[in-house]
Amino acid sequence: MKKPYYITTPIYYSSGSFHLGHCYTTVVCDAIARFKRMDGYDVFYLTGTDEHGQKVQQKAQQAGVTPKQYVDKLYDEIVRLWKRLNISYDKFIRTTDDYHEQTVQKIYEKLLESGDLYKAEYEGWYCTPCESFWTESQLVDGKCPDCGREVKREKEESYFFRLSAYQDRLIEFYKQNPEFISPKSRMNEMINNFIKPGLKDVCVSRTTFDWGVRLPFDQKHVAYVWVDALSNYITALGYLQPDHANFDKFWPADLHMVGKEIVRFHVIIWPALLMALGLPLPKKVYGHGWLLFDNDKMSKSKGNVVDPFFLTERYGVDPIRYYLLREIPFGSDGSYTNEALLNRTNSDLVNDLGNLVSRTTAMVTQYFGGEIPPLGTLSAREEEIALLLNGSTDKVRQDMEQLSAPDALADIFRIIQRANKYIDETEPWVLNKQGEKAKLATVMHTLCECIKFAATLLKPFIPDTADRIFQKLGLPSAENFDGLTFGGIGEGVRVNKGENLFNRIDVEKELKELEKYAEEKTAQPQEERIDVSDFAKVKLCTAEVTECRRVDNSDKLLLLTVKIGEETRKVVSGIAHCYTPEQLVGKTVILVKNLKPAKIRGIESNGMILCVSDGQKVVFVTPEQPTGSGKEVR
Ligand code: ME8
Ligand code: MG
Repeated sequence: MKKPYYITTPIYYSSGSFHLGHCYTTVVCDAIARFKRMDGYDVFYLTGTDEHGQKVQQKAQQAGVTPKQYVDKLYDEIVRLWKRLNISYDKFIRTTDDYHEQTVQKIYEKLLESGDLYKAEYEGWYCTPCESFWTESQLVDGKCPDCGREVKREKEESYFFRLSAYQDRLIEFYKQNPEFISPKSRMNEMINNFIKPGLKDVCVSRTTFDWGVRLPFDQKHVAYVWVDALSNYITALGYLQPDHANFDKFWPADLHMVGKEIVRFHVIIWPALLMALGLPLPKKVYGHGWLLFDNDKMSKSKGNVVDPFFLTERYGVDPIRYYLLREIPFGSDGSYTNEALLNRTNSDLVNDLGNLVSRTTAMVTQYFGGEIPPLGTLSAREEEIALLLNGSTDKVRQDMEQLSAPDALADIFRIIQRANKYIDETEPWVLNKQGEKAKLATVMHTLCECIKFAATLLKPFIPDTADRIFQKLGLPSAENFDGLTFGGIGEGVRVNKGENLFNRIDVEKELKELEKYAEEKTAQPQEERIDVSDFAKVKLCTAEVTECRRVDNSDKLLLLTVKIGEETRKVVSGIAHCYTPEQLVGKTVILVKNLKPAKIRGIESNGMILCVSDGQKVVFVTPEQPTGSGKEVR
C-alpha cells in the first residue's frame, strides 16, 4: 500500500486577473506533488477557488453581472492558467459547489451543538478587500495591517466562534509539534503578534451581505468567508458526506502551503476549528514568501502585474516554472525582474542543460550512428561520477523533505555541470581522432547516464522538458525513481538529436522589447471595443424616483420605485452609502431598462441606475434639463 500524501494550495480569490505571484504557490505545490508521486506516495493535490464574500458581490455589482456569473468567468480563467502551467492537481474545489456549501452548513450546526458557536453583538474595524475584522490595537496607522487600506467601523449581530477557549491547547500543540508552523521564523511572528496579546472569539457570520453560505439555523446570516474557505480542505475530501473515502485516507493534511500573509488563519483559526470538530490537525503549514515586483507585493490592486499568460507564451512554460522554483529563495521574499528570468533561462536551461543534451546526442549520432554504446572499464573519473549520480536521488529527496525546490534544483544542476566539465576533461573529439573507441564509448554512455538522471530528477519541476529529453535519449520517460542506478541504460537505445531544447535569448535586445511592451500596455489600457450594434442592445431611458427606502440589514442597498412613463418598477441600487432615500425621491435618473431581473437580498430588481463611481463614492447621472420619465437615452 502506498503512503498517502495530502497537499493543498490556498483556494484563490476570484477577484481579478491572476499574476505571476499567484502562480508561485501552485507551481511550488505542483513540484512537491509530482516529486512525491514519483517517490512512491499516493498523492492528493488540492486547489480551488474562494468564491464567496462581500468583495466578490461588490465586484460583480460593479461589473453589472450576478456574483455567480462573475465567479464562473474567473473560474474559467484560473483553470486555463493552471492548465497552461501544467499543474497536476487531483481535485479543484469551488466554494460555490453544492457539496461544499452543504458541508459548511453541517459544520456550523456541529459547532452550534458543541457550544463553540454563540450569538452576540460585534463591533470592530473591517477591511472589505481582506474580509477581515481587526481590533483597534491591530490597526497600523488606523489602516488594515495586511493591505494598508482604509478600514471601516462595523457593528452587527453575529455568531461567534469560541476561539479564546482554544488558546492554551493551541500553544500546547505548537510546543508538541515544532514543525507545524514553518519556516520557524513564522512561529515567533504568530506567537508575538497574535497569541500573546490573547485570542479573542471570532465573529464567524455576516448579515451585511448575502453572497455566502447561509446558516441553516438563522437564514439572515451567511458564513464568514474564512470559515467557509478553510473548510474546503476537508469538504473536498468528503467530510460529513456519504462518500468520505478520501477523507478517511488523506486527512490530516501533510502540508498546507500558503503565502505568509495568510499563515495566521491557517495556524490559529483553522486548527481551533478542527479541534472543535474533534478532528486531527494538519501536519504542517508552510508560509512561503512573496514574489516582489519593484519591492512591492505583486498585486493587481497596486497595478504592477506580470501576466503569466504573456510570459509563458513568449518563453515557454518550463522556463517560467524553473525561474519560480529556482530563483526565489524558498520561505523568503524574492524580487521578480525580467533580467533575472532571462539570465536564468540562458545560463541554466540553454547553456548547462540544453548544451549538454545537444552535444551528447550529436556526438552519439556522429561517433556511434545514434546508438548509445555500452560502458567499458571505468576510470577514477567515471567512478566519481557514478558515485555522484547514485547519491543524487537521496540528496534531492532530502532537499524536498525541507520543501526546498531551489536546493533540489541546485543539486540536480550539479550533475549537469559535472557532465559538461567531463566533456571538457575527456575531449571526446580527440578520443575519436585517436581511434580510442572503447574509451569514447564509456564517455558517451556516462554522459547519457548523467542526462537520464538529470531528466528523471527534473521531471517534477519541468515535466515537459524532462519528457522531451527522454524522447531525445530514446528512453521511455521515467515514472518514478525506482531502479535509478548508474549503468541502467541497456543496449540498443537510439538517440534522436532533433531541435534544441531551448533557444538562447539575446538578453539586451529582449529587455528592450519587454520595456516597450510594458509601456504600450500601460499607455493604452486594453479595452475591448464594441460595435454600435452591441451598444444598441442596451436600452437606456429616463426614470423618475417616486419612492425610496433602505434595504433591511444592508449599509449599501436602497430599494427605489421608479416611474418610466406609465410603467412602475422596483430597482435595487448599491448607493445607500452616498444617498439617503429622501435625497433621491423626485429625482430623474438614467435606467438600464432591458437588464434581466436579478434577485438581490430576496428582492427582484428590474434595471440598473447609471452612476459615476470611483469604486467608493457614487454619484447618479441625471439629464441636464427636465425631460420627463420614460424618454429614450442614446
Ligand atoms: O488568500 N507572491 O487567496 P489569494 C507570492 N482566498 N505568492 C502570492 C503573491 C505574490 N506576490 N500574491 C498572491 C487567498 N500570492 C484566500 C485563501 S485559503 C483557505 C483562502 C499567493 O487569491 C498567496 O500568498 O489572495 C496565496 O498563497 C495564493 O496566492 C492565493 O491568494
Ligand atoms: Mg491574498
